[in-house]
Amino acid sequence: MFFLMFYVITGIFLVAIVTSYAIIIFSCQKRANLRIENENSIKAKRKLQQAPGPRPWPIIGNLDIIGQFNNPFQGFGALTKSYGDIYSLTLGHTRCLVVNNLELIKEVLNKNGKFFGGRPEFLRYHKLFGGDRNNSLALCDWSQLQQKRRNLARRHCSPRSSSSYFAKIKHTQKICHWSATIRKFILERVINRREINIDLDEPDVDFTDALLKSLIENKNVSRNTIIFMLEDFIGGHSAVGNLVMLSLAYIAKDPEIAKRIQCEVDYVSKNSQRSINLHDMDKMPYTMATIFEVLRYSSSPIVPHVATEDTQISDFGVTTGTIVFINNYILNTSPKYWKDPDQFQPER
Ligand code: HEM
Repeated sequence: MFFLMFYVITGIFLVAIVTSYAIIIFSCQKRANLRIENENSIKAKRKLQQAPGPRPWPIIGNLDIIGQFNNPFQGFGALTKSYGDIYSLTLGHTRCLVVNNLELIKEVLNKNGKFFGGRPEFLRYHKLFGGDRNNSLALCDWSQLQQKRRNLARRHCSPRSSSSYFAKIKHTQKICHWSATIRKFILERVINRREINIDLDEPDVDFTDALLKSLIENKNVSRNTIIFMLEDFIGGHSAVGNLVMLSLAYIAKDPEIAKRIQCEVDYVSKNSQRSINLHDMDKMPYTMATIFEVLRYSSSPIVPHVATEDTQISDFGVTTGTIVFINNYILNTSPKYWKDPDQFQPER
């Protein structure tokens, strides 16, 4: 009986390894199938090889390499020494591409942006947004709904005065609990209260007003859409909170920086006779340089993009479903772009 169990378990294990390796090797060797149009609009097909990268193991792919570093972005930077600024990685079974310089990043986000409008199927993204990451503005794939949500959000995203109303399993369970608490708060404390007083004939007071009106006016906008949009906006503002805390921490370490910012604040506010606002940015170059330096120095990772069809970056093919990691960490810390990148220097 013991030997039977042993053979069955070993058999299952071997089948898993072989299947996993076959899938990985197949996706490594797959070529991107591109349709190319020349000046005479004659369509041709071209197959392009994917970028080279380290040899993956069955089941884990290259996770062993990335796991050796404190954070994945350090690992991505270290691998450029062996593979250059663009290379492939296999994380688990998933084919990934890592881009590590400004030109390549522009190629992904700007020049070929329409082919990289997807986001990865990470479990935690689904858990955060009611079981479907497409509920989120920031974690969804590109769609007509996203186009509509962006247009709706844009109406309230330019600099303006504040609203007159402002006036691992255990881990994912925690995420579900947090997101449910936030949703309950938004529903009870923001939406339900404001919905009662909505007046379609009055101009929008703020973003919540615009969302509630679109719920009445536009049949394609659901209650869930506006709740999740508010959630994304609250989440977005936590990035601002983090930026403020980090800025204060760096300024506290260097009183000279604090003095120079204080000088600009006193000058622009006429010694506190009026408040500073977003339109004062041009008059406060040192303060702005400090904020940009905090963004560079802290270098928060960008949510990966996913190729929605076969395409090309540099001279390499990128197959549909490839996760693309934008290594903005190397962009912000490389001596190629910055003198003394380890120093916090707003005047750079
Ligand atoms: C210090 C402040 C902030 C920083 C550094 C920041 C940074 C970023 C970055 C790097 C991206 C990813 C872009 C990409 O993957 O191509 C992003 C996306 C996004 N951010 Fe922010 N953000 C900030 C504040 C905010 C705020 C205040 C909001 C909301 C009011 C917001 C809402 C969003 C949304 C909705 C997206 C997804 C956009 C899309 O894919 O269409 N962010 N942000």
